[in-house]
Amino acid sequence: MKASITPTNQQHQIADTDFIVSKTDLQGRITYANRIFMQISQYAESDLLGTQHNIVRHPDMPRGVFKYLWQELKQQQEFFGFVKNLCADGSYYWVFANITPDLGPDEQVKGYYSVRRQAPASAIQVIAPLYAEMCAIEQRAGSKEGANKSIAHLEQFLAEHNSSYRDLVLQLYKN
Ligand SMILES: Cc1cc2nc3c(=O)[nH]c(=O)nc-3n(C[C@H](O)[C@H](O)[C@H](O)COP(=O)(O)O)c2cc1C
Repeated sequence: MKASITPTNQQHQIADTDFIVSKTDLQGRITYANRIFMQISQYAESDLLGTQHNIVRHPDMPRGVFKYLWQELKQQQEFFGFVKNLCADGSYYWVFANITPDLGPDEQVKGYYSVRRQAPASAIQVIAPLYAEMCAIEQRAGSKEGANKSIAHLEQFLAEHNSSYRDLVLQLYKN
């Protein structure tokens, strides 16, 4: 289903009162999706459950961002970031995402959960060109080295702004 989606320029806004919530297992397969997630992404619950979360991955998202996301989660850190997601009809929405390890009673990580809300337009103005440059670097470098090279570009951008990805994202979200 995913391979046949052609991205369009139609953007959806998430209402201030709405939260997109999903849970995954350790491999990123969806185990829970709330109604808002189904509505905005235009998938039925049966399409989402058991499916990799990359079902909503947009081609404008750099691989380097997801590499960083999984590095954070594997170290039991929570991830904050801006993500552009693809809907079933090719439209898209930008979110401010918070992904957290889901600990069981034995303190072991049994999966992850994510809460997403509308990304401010002012933040998208900064992040979209940065991600576009990262995607261009990945295309030039090819699949083997792409993510590392685009992360290097992200790190250089952050050094120039004297910030970490997390601080930049939280700053942009608050502004
Ligand atoms: C709880 C959780 C939520 C996630 N949410 C998203 C999301 O909204 N959009 C997205 O593209 N990837 C999301 N991911 C990351 C995907 O699992 C995947 O790494 C990413 O889409 C890149 O997929 P690919 O490397 O297979 O292309 C999430 C992962 C987890 C663990």
